[in-house]
Amino acid sequence: MKKYIYNIIIISNLFAQIDYTTQIQTIFNANCTSCHMYGNASGGLTLTSYSGVMTNSNSGASVVPEDHANSLLWQRVNSGEMPAGNNPDLSSDEINLIAQWIDEGALEVASDSTSIEGRWLLEQYSNTMYEFDGDVRLTYLCNADVCDSTYWNSLDTSDALPTQNPYTFINDTLTIDLNFGNYFVEVVTFLCDGNVIDFNSQQTNLHRIGTDFDECEDYNGQQLDISNAINTPVQFRLNQNYPNPFNPTTTLAYDLPKDELVNITIYDMMGRMVSNLVSSQQNAGYKSIQWDATNNAGQPVSAGVYLYSIEAGEFRQTKKMVLLK
Ligand code: HEC
Repeated sequence: MKKYIYNIIIISNLFAQIDYTTQIQTIFNANCTSCHMYGNASGGLTLTSYSGVMTNSNSGASVVPEDHANSLLWQRVNSGEMPAGNNPDLSSDEINLIAQWIDEGALEVASDSTSIEGRWLLEQYSNTMYEFDGDVRLTYLCNADVCDSTYWNSLDTSDALPTQNPYTFINDTLTIDLNFGNYFVEVVTFLCDGNVIDFNSQQTNLHRIGTDFDECEDYNGQQLDISNAINTPVQFRLNQNYPNPFNPTTTLAYDLPKDELVNITIYDMMGRMVSNLVSSQQNAGYKSIQWDATNNAGQPVSAGVYLYSIEAGEFRQTKKMVLLK
């Protein structure tokens, strides 16, 4: 039985979604309900069911959804005041679980929308779709003229590229095994009711397939739109190339918030310059350039890890990519 409960916790942590019944109510049952039960509710608070927990007690609502720090219930267990009397305090894992559950909205049934499972498009490009499916990330490319959500939804997993990338999603951290020793590790924030994944670094966002963007027009001060260059970006950003690993071409995308002289240079792992891909004055906007894995002399380069580096005004950034043959 113990093992079973443990598995549930691991599985739901994977999706960073707390399940109220199996993870939170069980804590109350084991530690609180002897005093906080119907008919004899200490502090006016009943903790035997979800509705009891969410109903006002003597001091008002003890749970403020999405705000654990202002939730009396969390304050009382965090300070060790509750469970009262000689009862042992909750473990820090249990206290954190309660905080996480509150911050996720204090839901009785975890909402699917903030799960990372499902199909996603890169913010500015519409020809690559990623699907987080159980424990692997699948990649799909669009072969049609119109790559809209009808097209993407018509695909099934047999249409995905053969390369699958194992991933984990634990405590808001997405780790994707890009193979060959490269890992993508990013802290993730969900925006727009869980329909936009915002990476806390400079990675481009992911949009859930079929999202109605009218519902979430504004976030981070930027208009949501899948089409290119409608807006001027607010900050410099060098995106991870895609696909990656690649063969024979990959796309390097970057955001220019203002007009700049832009240099994009590709180096090998020895630091030798391979290609001056871009060297020009450019206007602000969402930009991208393809690299076909050739050097300045137009010859194909060998398989391996390459660095690509952007200089635009004061901004400098370098990322890695993997060429497979
Ligand atoms: C031994 C009995 C006992 C246990 C066990 C206990 N409590 Fe309490 N609790 C009380 C009493 C008595 C009060 C009212 C006095 C007070 O506020 O300290 C109270 C008050 C509270 C309040 C404040 C309610 C309000 O609105 O004023 C919260 C929140 C709370 N308890 C949470 C918990 C949680 C969560 C647990 C389990 C982890 C728990 N308690 C376990 C006895 C208990």
